[in-house]
Amino acid sequence: KIVPVILSGGSGTRLWPLSRAVLPKQLLPLVTENTMLQETLLRLSSWAEVSAPVVVCGNDHRFLVAEQLRLINLSPEAILLEPVARNTAPAIAAAAIALQDKDVLMLVLPADHVITDVTAFEAAVRRASVAAEQGKLVTFGIEPTHPETGYGYIQSDNASKFADNCYEVARFVEKPNAETAQEYMDAGNFYWNSGMFLFKPAVFLSELKQYAPAIVDSVSKAVAQSYKDLDFVRLHEASFAESPSDSIDYAVMEKTKLAAVVPASMGWNDVGSWTALKEVQTQDANGNAVRGDVYLKDVNNTLVRAENRFVAAVGVKDLLIVETSDAVLVAHRDCAQDVKNIVDHLKASG
Ligand code: GDD
Ligand code: MG
Repeated sequence: KIVPVILSGGSGTRLWPLSRAVLPKQLLPLVTENTMLQETLLRLSSWAEVSAPVVVCGNDHRFLVAEQLRLINLSPEAILLEPVARNTAPAIAAAAIALQDKDVLMLVLPADHVITDVTAFEAAVRRASVAAEQGKLVTFGIEPTHPETGYGYIQSDNASKFADNCYEVARFVEKPNAETAQEYMDAGNFYWNSGMFLFKPAVFLSELKQYAPAIVDSVSKAVAQSYKDLDFVRLHEASFAESPSDSIDYAVMEKTKLAAVVPASMGWNDVGSWTALKEVQTQDANGNAVRGDVYLKDVNNTLVRAENRFVAAVGVKDLLIVETSDAVLVAHRDCAQDVKNIVDHLKASG
């Protein structure tokens, strides 16, 4: 059996002003009428070998998450609540500890990604499960299209093959600088890390114990002292807060010798910015992607999202325009990454 472990703890600051701390991007209907979290779960709903999911999220989001699952008639195995955010390694560790006595594979999935080719995704997971059963930490590799510095890079060792189209990982490098990213692109046998993983809980925990023992110690205590309240499992606050904050990529994947990669072409997009979101939306003949009550005249390559009010744009190109009830964003599409600085500014100025 495969248990999906859904990471729903990010804050999606590059999608401000729509994505906010109280309502981050994974809990919003960004691409379809379902939220990103719901789409992530619905994508798995017809797979026979997949059982009820474990969702890991911040305590503050518990009612929204529970309600969104209920609306798609999904009963979770558990909703693990983090009292404080400690990044993905502790979040995944909590799920692994809760599942370690069961004979299952964990399929770790970010709650905020788009996958358009579900058949290819399912086939990739099936191939990955062969290696995961053999004790590998399996990643899913995406063919890179540009030297993105916000992703992890996976070099596959094509000489050592586990299963059909599943290879040993020669090197995993999280978020290289631009120059290094370009080198990897040129080298050819590098993939982007999709941020999804498949492994046995016990294998992940023993690797984490080796490379980041303090995380395992504090999260083990937090699970041992947790208490159950309906579907919610409340991790113990003081113990969980003791854990170092680190991502699975830095804490384990860069260091482990057990990594494998399944290259997969499945229409993956992590919707990390407004330009990435524009790519997954339908566009008109002028390359505009529009949502809401919008009027355009002589506009090209522009995203317009009107949540509350009527928005009109005339004679402009290459813009990102997002209107919400209390804030409006107007940015050049080349500056999509800088949107997170606005959130930093707002936090700093209270
Ligand atoms: N529950 C929980 N708790 N979830 C979290 C937390 C946390 O503290 N922090 C992040 N997440 C969730 C996010 O919501 C997202 O779904 C996922 O975990 C990954 O976190 P990001 O913060 O988005 O990571 P990233 O984009 O910088 O990098 C990761 O994803 C890339 C692909 O999108 C890495 O795995 C990279 O190697 C990868 O290329
Ligand atoms: Mg991300």
